[in-house]
Amino acid sequence: MSIIIKTYEEIQKIRIASRIAAKTLEFIKPYIVPGISTEKLNLICHNHIVNSQKAFPGCLNYHGFPKSICTSVNNTVCHGIPRENEILRSGDIINIDVTVIKNGFYGDTSKMFFVGKKTKEGKKLCKVAKDSLYLAIKMVRPGIRLQKIGKSIQDFIEKNKFSVVKEYCGHGIGKKFHEDPQILHYNAYDGGITLKEGMIFTIEPMVNFGKDTVELMEDGWTVKTKDNKLSAQYEHTLSVTKHGCEILTLREEERFN
Ligand code: MF3
Ligand code: CO
Ligand code: CO
Repeated sequence: MSIIIKTYEEIQKIRIASRIAAKTLEFIKPYIVPGISTEKLNLICHNHIVNSQKAFPGCLNYHGFPKSICTSVNNTVCHGIPRENEILRSGDIINIDVTVIKNGFYGDTSKMFFVGKKTKEGKKLCKVAKDSLYLAIKMVRPGIRLQKIGKSIQDFIEKNKFSVVKEYCGHGIGKKFHEDPQILHYNAYDGGITLKEGMIFTIEPMVNFGKDTVELMEDGWTVKTKDNKLSAQYEHTLSVTKHGCEILTLREEERFN
């Protein structure tokens, strides 16, 4: 276990990659309508990242992942592979997870979108997932134990009668996509880690409408809920500052929250 403390110059580079990832989520929003395929969303994001931003999609070819973004619809928890024959319908919820490499550094962020009409269940689940991320972000500062953050995320989600996925976690990020430490979204021993200024990592809780059990599909990537109920996730890349943190992947719509 070795956590890299980033220099000022490294933070600036991760900030730039993170901004491009956040901008890509803003850019894709108007395209998320009933009738579009997840592959089309992948293509639009890919072209935006490569041609407009002169960056590279971190997911593409990552351990053989075949596409440039992850698209996780309804009962898909994470790592959904965009497909030509996966057509969005009104009432769907979809997570789009964008990772960008720029000048050798990574930025990673995801959010939920509603397709057409919002269902009551989808709205409630996405709000709890987003609020669980925000409450965790508010705790981030030098000196805090990671376990406290994980416990707070889990307590909040379970208080709302949903469950938190245990198999996947947030991660340090920088020159590599996934670095130490692991950021667990539930109450478990953290190896004694306390946060320090200059650490950069993601928090990305996955929240299930029903049971927390998940299942890996035959494609080796797509993770679904075992009970086929809805799942939602939000992710930000954060850098620990002297008195708190900076959200490197903050979007315009979040600025006044
Ligand atoms: N972006 C995901 C994360 O938040 C990881 C996706 S890996 C991929 O860590 F290969 F599926 F793209
Ligand atoms: Co991540
Ligand atoms: Co991600």
